[in-house]
Amino acid sequence: MDTTNDKNEKPSQNGKKGLSRRGFLKGTGLATAGTFAFTNSLFANEASTDTLAIAGPDANAIELTINDRKVTTLARPDETLVDVLRERLEMTGTKMVCGRGACSACTVMIDDEPVCSCLTLAVEVQDKKITTIEGIAKDGKLHPVQEAFIEEDAAMCGYCTPGMVMSCVHLVDNTPNPTIEEVKHAVRGNLCRCGTYPHVFKAAMTASKNV
Ligand code: FES
Ligand code: FES
Repeated sequence: MDTTNDKNEKPSQNGKKGLSRRGFLKGTGLATAGTFAFTNSLFANEASTDTLAIAGPDANAIELTINDRKVTTLARPDETLVDVLRERLEMTGTKMVCGRGACSACTVMIDDEPVCSCLTLAVEVQDKKITTIEGIAKDGKLHPVQEAFIEEDAAMCGYCTPGMVMSCVHLVDNTPNPTIEEVKHAVRGNLCRCGTYPHVFKAAMTASKNV
């Protein structure tokens, strides 16, 4: 999937937005005789070429590996993974709620570890394996955690559900026969305003018997 056909944003030819030292000096008006010595020392450690490449502030092409597929898209350097997933790739299974690491609704797996995608910059995970809620069903079959969430009626409004599921998947895939305490620990950061916790705990226990 290549989503670089964004009408408003185009990466530079080499995939990076370049800002040369000369361009920087021109733009800031620092390239005057009086300030040259200062700027020379400012850039003393810079490579000798005059083509220092700086990513941003506009979007550049990046490559991500999501659910075992290479995906090329655009992202600004300050763009979070959840925004890239939802807004650029239209992978809206991952939810964005608080946007500040407080609720875990945005949980995805990075290299098989659950992380908040609202606290993760997309450019930082280009060499990582990203797994989203869309990627845990295999060969048309739901993951046992997904099956158990249905069976145990563990979702109400559903906003916390993808994050809850991802945390439970990590638990049952890595901890055989977890205790209820281990289940509670696994979803300790996942907040549910609908109060589905007892159903979630039950679903995780059920799923652990079916992985
Ligand atoms: S949306 Fe990421 S932690 Fe709440
Ligand atoms: S099901 Fe509504 S927030 Fe958890």
